[in-house]
Amino acid sequence: MKNNLFVLLLVALGLPAAAQATGPLSASLGNVKLTFALNAARQPTYAVAYGKKPVVNASRLGIAFEGGAGFDGPLVLTGSEVKNVDETWEPVWGEVKSIRNHYQQLTVHLRQPAAPGRRLDVVFRVFADGVGFRYEFPRQLALGNFVVSDELTEFALPADHQAFWIPGDYDTNEYLYTKSRLSAVDNSQQVKSSSDIAVRVAPDAQAVATPLMLKADDGLYLNIHEAAQVDYPAMQLHVDGASHRLTARLVPNAVGSKAFLHAPSRTPWRTLIVSDNAPDILASKLILNLNEPSKIKDTSWIKPMKFVGVWWEMQIGRTDWKYAESADTLDAKGQLIPTGRHGANTANVKRYIDFAAAHHIAGVLVEGWNVGWEDWFGNWKENVFDFVTPYPDFNVQQISDYAKSKGVQMIMHNETSGSATNYEQHLDTAYQFMNKYGYPAVKTGYVGRIIPRGEHHDGQWMSNHFVRVAEMAAKHRVAVDMHEAVRPTGLARTYPNWMASEAGRGNEYNAFSIGNPPEHETIMPFTRLMGGPMDYTPGIFKLQGYSANPARRVQTTLAKQLALYVTLYSPLQMAADLPENYAQHLDAFQFIQDVPVDWDDTRILAAEPGDYITTVRKAKGKDEWYLGSITDENARQQPVKLSFLPPGRRYEAIVYADAPDADWQKNPAAYQITRQVVTSKSVLLLKLAPGGGAAVSFKPVAGR
Ligand code: NOJ
Ligand code: CA
Repeated sequence: MKNNLFVLLLVALGLPAAAQATGPLSASLGNVKLTFALNAARQPTYAVAYGKKPVVNASRLGIAFEGGAGFDGPLVLTGSEVKNVDETWEPVWGEVKSIRNHYQQLTVHLRQPAAPGRRLDVVFRVFADGVGFRYEFPRQLALGNFVVSDELTEFALPADHQAFWIPGDYDTNEYLYTKSRLSAVDNSQQVKSSSDIAVRVAPDAQAVATPLMLKADDGLYLNIHEAAQVDYPAMQLHVDGASHRLTARLVPNAVGSKAFLHAPSRTPWRTLIVSDNAPDILASKLILNLNEPSKIKDTSWIKPMKFVGVWWEMQIGRTDWKYAESADTLDAKGQLIPTGRHGANTANVKRYIDFAAAHHIAGVLVEGWNVGWEDWFGNWKENVFDFVTPYPDFNVQQISDYAKSKGVQMIMHNETSGSATNYEQHLDTAYQFMNKYGYPAVKTGYVGRIIPRGEHHDGQWMSNHFVRVAEMAAKHRVAVDMHEAVRPTGLARTYPNWMASEAGRGNEYNAFSIGNPPEHETIMPFTRLMGGPMDYTPGIFKLQGYSANPARRVQTTLAKQLALYVTLYSPLQMAADLPENYAQHLDAFQFIQDVPVDWDDTRILAAEPGDYITTVRKAKGKDEWYLGSITDENARQQPVKLSFLPPGRRYEAIVYADAPDADWQKNPAAYQITRQVVTSKSVLLLKLAPGGGAAVSFKPVAGR
């Protein structure tokens, strides 16, 4: 308020710009301090420090418009406010029962002198573990419709940090991570496609996607991403290797514009999570806190669950999604000629339902059940699927009845083959169909180029589409798991039925490509999962020899597949392997059967991106704890103090560990299961094989 008056006074006195306020203004919480100022050219800048260490040096802010007079030139600082918020909220599901949202907010008011009356606010929220900020365009006469041509946000890093990065591709995040200095970022040789060919993926060889994980030589860990990406394209970062300056790069629409907006509106939050301790990055709730509370009032129908599915068998080429050889080839009676390899047939589906029922797995996903798969891949065709017409050998009524009789829930699959317009036309009927047959959840997919117009998966149009799908699903009380969607930004807080997304390189790459090296899963939580749960599809037990191509193999041990149920969080979590492969190792499957998908508490006990992660979680509403510990290609000994257990109680620890001779390359399936009684004073020494892991369940000993 004081600032407002001061500037009004200056303007009234007709004083030159040089006499007007330029800051600095600041906000801080704990170790984190944010400073805002106009620079010598009167452009807005911000800087962030963690204790005495600079995190981001003075960096530009601004938004450029098509047609000029955006907020890119010199601006006038007209005022500011600070407020403090400290509240606690409970997520519908998640890694913890309640979340503290504690921050100091600084709002800065700016004016564009070149377009009289045109105003912009920048809102900063400073948390104990980082900063979020966004641009807000208040309601104003001087700004109606406008088109963003560029966002000028910069992150001027003080040094050439280690980065864990994937290319800034406009359509996919399904890449392996490269660990390199920022100055060495070059995405032109990245391997993307299922055929493992190196392709030039982004027009900018120095563009990386977020979440971007960084480690400074002075011991600071820094994660850059965004929160609440709604009605705006995804932000990528252009890396200037020489200056260590990152610049926001917005994914364009089909004709090169970035965002169509109308005041009042606002951009997503830009997030910086910082700590001198890597586990704190994984424990951060900053991104969720920056999202709006649930828009769904009654959330009682939203239920986390595990599921099996008619899926991996298609991925490894044993069966197929399609029913017929081709949609145009008919036999003498005018019927489609079946391939004989159609996975989604009633008898096979019942086999999965039986397995789920026998092992208390709540759901069964079936892909390839509906007409269209003869024609889905690589064709830029609008109306491939109608989402309601089953193939002749998939008896939807019989399958729903059978599942119901066994207490199992069916999970719908809606592959759109990239035709988002077609999906939008069928959304209502598709979700009514799910309601009719009792499907509580749907997995969606967007393989291929997007219709309309070749919009990008990560652009503004699709970001709105994904929200429309989540809203329509909520209207029909259906949960969604989106594949090939834009990477999440914490929107599951606002749409708790949007339970999972893929948007990263999942276990499926082990089916059809060079696969995921052992370090991959130690990087994912620091990158892709910072925005929200991932449908990674863990739980492959037959780790090699599953594909016609002998080179295909899962690059972990079996015990590590179990540990992933704890280290990679998702409220919709698949047990991805075939029932017959689980039948070979039912003692190990017991961990998958037991492990929850909803938690009261989570502690990251040890973590280093690219090397190892040990996480322990407490089951929702139960005195049971589950631990997962994973390593990269190096064997490791991980001592674990059990001080997280409530004192004075005895628990049976069941340890699912790599056998002494286990090794992801030489002996991946060698595991051993041991039991012991422990207390909060005990220490477990977990021995992780190369590419290995360990999973532990802790249940109270009866009569304690
Ligand atoms: C890609 C998805 O990630 C995968 O899980 C699915 O099976 C195929 N698309 C087919 O929809
Ligand atoms: Ca995929």
